[in-house]
Amino acid sequence: MFDLGVSSMQLDEADRGFAYSQDAPLDMRMDPTTGATAADVLNTYSAADLARILRQYGEEKFASRIASRIVAERAVTPFTTSARLVDVIRTSIPAAARRTGGNPAKRTFQALRIEVNGELDALRCAIPAALDALAVGGRIVVMSYQSLEDRIVKHALAVGAHPNVPAGLPIIPDSMKPWLRLITRGAELAGEDEITENPRAASVRVRAAERLAVAA
Ligand SMILES: C[S@@+](CC[C@H](N)C(=O)[O-])C[C@H]1O[C@@H](n2cnc3c(N)ncnc32)[C@H](O)[C@@H]1O
Repeated sequence: MFDLGVSSMQLDEADRGFAYSQDAPLDMRMDPTTGATAADVLNTYSAADLARILRQYGEEKFASRIASRIVAERAVTPFTTSARLVDVIRTSIPAAARRTGGNPAKRTFQALRIEVNGELDALRCAIPAALDALAVGGRIVVMSYQSLEDRIVKHALAVGAHPNVPAGLPIIPDSMKPWLRLITRGAELAGEDEITENPRAASVRVRAAERLAVAA
């Protein structure tokens, strides 16, 4: 079972810097004992690399604008705290665009967090490894909270549930037969009652599958 992303404990610990709603040191490391912090990324990456991660991991359409501003601002003073970053993001996005899509800082903070923790790379390795570890009849359940994670999970499960069989084969060899059965129809979402009780469940997507047979 995977419950992906950042935990409430981490989000609610102000000085971890995960939340854009509180001013805190720009850390965002899930394991605070190792690796580069979000401040390190902001203060050392090129404008092109910053724009790439905002676009790729945050699906931020104003990625280039925000990246150029970050580079200009850090030349004056390096970034250390989240409130300043939130302000730079807000003033980089046109006012009309700021009126929709929730907090304007949300996508940039998600992108920085994914970059700092290598979340998608870890996930691309973890799901196939978990599937390999499953016994026949064993099940995998994955709770993801944003579309990038969900896309990786969906693809990894589809590899086992819908193997690529060339058309016109008279007999399908065992190695090409499905070795996973999808239990969820697409991704299951939280119901209204659950979201009322726990607003953080609003973005959850649950996918589950069962191991059918050992792939040759
Ligand atoms: C959404 S939280 C789990 C919350 C927990 N299930 C609960 O209900 O309280 C995901 C956790 O996975 C950890 N995590 C993230 N990437 C990881 C990795 N590559 N290996 C191990 N743990 C990781 C995070 O630090 C975080 O605490």
